[in-house]
Amino acid sequence: MTFFEATCTAPVNIAVVKYWGKRDTTLILPTNSSLSVTLSQDQLHSKTTIRASADFEAQGGDRLWLNGIEESIQSNKRLVACLRETRAQRKAMEQADPALPKIHSWAVHICSENNFPTAAGLASSASGYACLVYTLAKLYQLPLNASDLSMVARQGSGSACRSLFGGFVAWEMGTRDDGLDSRAVQIAPETHWPDLQALICVVSDAKKGTSSTEGMQHTVKTSPLLQHRIKEVVPQRMKDMIAAIHAKDFPRFAELTMQDSNQFHAVCLDTYPPIFYMNDISRAIIRIITEYNRTGIKAAYTYDAGPNAVIYAPKENMPEIYALLNHYFPGAVFDDQLGLRNDPRAVAANPLP
Ligand code: DP6
Repeated sequence: MTFFEATCTAPVNIAVVKYWGKRDTTLILPTNSSLSVTLSQDQLHSKTTIRASADFEAQGGDRLWLNGIEESIQSNKRLVACLRETRAQRKAMEQADPALPKIHSWAVHICSENNFPTAAGLASSASGYACLVYTLAKLYQLPLNASDLSMVARQGSGSACRSLFGGFVAWEMGTRDDGLDSRAVQIAPETHWPDLQALICVVSDAKKGTSSTEGMQHTVKTSPLLQHRIKEVVPQRMKDMIAAIHAKDFPRFAELTMQDSNQFHAVCLDTYPPIFYMNDISRAIIRIITEYNRTGIKAAYTYDAGPNAVIYAPKENMPEIYALLNHYFPGAVFDDQLGLRNDPRAVAANPLP
């Protein structure tokens, strides 16, 4: 059997200025710009292998296995869009260079896995689609310009466009209707602020009730607060966040991160009917971090579309933060290496602040 194959991994990113809302749901064009920190691939990542073979047509055409379970490709419009875009680019290359093997028309088998819970608000779609698009680009030997690939990954899942880069990454919303200016750009590389660390507290690894895709469009349709956020708040916050990152100003970075997480969840509450992503443990962690910061900002919390907390802090504060969280959630083990809390069912047993 003749085949071509590529394997890649892609990291998770956690937004500090959140993307929530689309102005175009097919091209995935957002209603505001966003900014994230890409986490180290050693800890959380998606891994994808794609094989293209002329023989696969007789074996059911394009097929996908996600965490070992076969899923339908044809019913997944976003995956189809990523395949279509990368195949079109490969076809153009083959037309320009007749010596290239004509693999754009071969069916593919895609195997993708995450080493963390899928769809629990841990940005699995971000690393998953970034990985898919990067692996397709490798397979088809496309030019690996991360910003250009981000425009394809964006059509898989909006937040995925930011996982094409390491470090600090902005997704510029753009203004064009064709989306050609809605892309990710790196604000600072991963080497810029080595002292900044992220701790992920897995409050629950259950699949979330309302998907981001569904939730954000209910917000666009019903929330007046979202209009205020996208017009009056985010444009200035993006500038302030970029300045705080460039200056490695942790207190300012932390303040903006927590304010943005709070406003994102306020916008969810302002959606009608309301959407709740945080639970009692999530809110308890907010109170613990707020109390910890009373004498000066030493940590920042942020929550995506799920109950799990991500805590950003300078490296030297992390042992204290583990100890603090273990005090309020005794028995809940925070693994120093992975930054993951192992017991998702632990409940607060000490009085909360
Ligand atoms: C709360 O990228 O998952 O994590 O574009 O519909 O796939 P789709 O949504 P998705 O939304 C992520 C929302 C968020 C904030 C963020 O990552 O910026």
